Amino acid sequence: MKKGIFISIEGPDGSGKSTQIENIKQFFKDKKMDIVFTREPGGTAIGERIRAIILDNNCREMDYMTEAMLYAAARAQHVAQVIRPALEDGKIVICDRFVDSSIAYQGYGRGLGEAVAIINSYAVAGCMPDVTFLLKLDPAVGRNRIRADQQDRLESEKEAFHDEVFRGYLQLEKDNPGRIVGIDASGSIEDIKLDIYKKLEEVLNCL
Ligand code: TMP
Repeated sequence: MKKGIFISIEGPDGSGKSTQIENIKQFFKDKKMDIVFTREPGGTAIGERIRAIILDNNCREMDYMTEAMLYAAARAQHVAQVIRPALEDGKIVICDRFVDSSIAYQGYGRGLGEAVAIINSYAVAGCMPDVTFLLKLDPAVGRNRIRADQQDRLESEKEAFHDEVFRGYLQLEKDNPGRIVGIDASGSIEDIKLDIYKKLEEVLNCL
């Protein structure tokens, strides 16, 4: 069975991920290549409903393990309903956040550690990105870019939480050198775009 390409984009809140996702979409549009773009949490009707619960500022009492399991539940549905079928169909899947977000935010940020990888091994069931772009930006800088009154439940967490999330991402990058491509996200939007485009060309050349 022909396998597609699975690309995920990761980074701390305010790292410029949304802007670069638009650039990635443009990259494939310029090449007249179809992509399946999707996001987490979400990407399915069920996942979007779970997303609304997780990010709701009124859900302050949510237990950390509940939070981790909700992200994983949304992901299980996403993999089963959207990502795996698209890849089996030979498509290029671009996903805004995937399992690395859970390891960084719930594993490191919430301090749940290994449990997060274990729960998610069931959610992803072996379906992992071929390439992950990690936008690396000092979390303090990232957070300053998001207006306080527009922060969701996760974004409004304390500085220490976001520092831990970033530490988690850097560890993931170290542990997965073949998959995770670290991108310095402190430079200009254009420079970051060019870094990503260079890597995307390499990925396509390997097909
Ligand atoms: P977004 O703002 O990039 O759409 O992501 C929503 C928030 O959810 C963001 O603060 C990161 C967080 N998140 C987790 O904590 N764990 C996860 O597994 C995912 C996918 C996102």
